[in-house]
Amino acid sequence: MTATARRDAASRVRALRSPIARTPRLELVLPHRRYAGEVVRLLNDRSVVRWTLRIPFPYRAADATAFYARWRKGWRAATNLPLLIVRRADGRLVGGFGLHRVDPEHRSAEVGYWIGRPFRRQGYGREALEAVTRLAFRRLGLYRLEARVFPGNAASSALLLAAGFRYEGRLRAAVRKGGRPRDELVYGRLRDDPVRSSRRAVGRRASAGGPPVAPTK
Ligand SMILES: CC(C)(COP(=O)(O)OP(=O)(O)OC[C@H]1O[C@@H](n2cnc3c(N)ncnc32)[C@H](O)[C@@H]1OP(=O)(O)O)[C@@H](O)C(=O)NCCC(=O)NCCS
Repeated sequence: MTATARRDAASRVRALRSPIARTPRLELVLPHRRYAGEVVRLLNDRSVVRWTLRIPFPYRAADATAFYARWRKGWRAATNLPLLIVRRADGRLVGGFGLHRVDPEHRSAEVGYWIGRPFRRQGYGREALEAVTRLAFRRLGLYRLEARVFPGNAASSALLLAAGFRYEGRLRAAVRKGGRPRDELVYGRLRDDPVRSSRRAVGRRASAGGPPVAPTK
């Protein structure tokens, strides 16, 4: 990849301004200190920490400040794009999404996310993931999105399948969490993948004897 193309991909990330995208119920915004209190309240929750790799517990105000400093650095380098998900009806913070390891050369990125406990099972995760996918493919020019999920995280696996990602395989001892090796399940979506409705996709997978929706061990 030429230096010019790399600069172009990076400048697309840096050119984004809040609100970055709107869906019927949500806005995707760049992190801002005004949400720090809500970030701390929603992330100080074991049900988030259990399934994610880098979020500390307990989650304190200092962690939100450190996150804010880190995201600015990653955004300037165009390697990361963290987003907060805000409900349009009342301005409340619903969760956080992020594109990590944005790789302009291979036109790929990894997506990570959490939805605060009071807001789960209301379709917000899917609405936000679909918006982030459109952003990645249409506005940032990426071709592949990947997500990595700990075995047993049924909610995350279901969300990915509902949003058109496919199960691609299992990486053994891919990471260490709490000093212990943990496997990761890889889900991927390509820009040109046909979009299927989630229920049909899951049904087809089951009837085709495909990989389990959410391997547990
Ligand atoms: C994973 C997570 C983001 C899902 O967010 P959400 O807003 O509750 O998801 P949605 O309501 O949009 O649901 C999306 C799909 O997943 C399914 N789903 C959601 N939670 C589920 C659960 N606990 N078990 C089974 N299916 C579930 C929904 O039924 C829906 O499928 P459908 O569209 O076919 O009906 C949320 O549970 C979370 O933040 N968990 C903790 C942090 C985490 O695991 N992050 C991901 C790390 S890889």
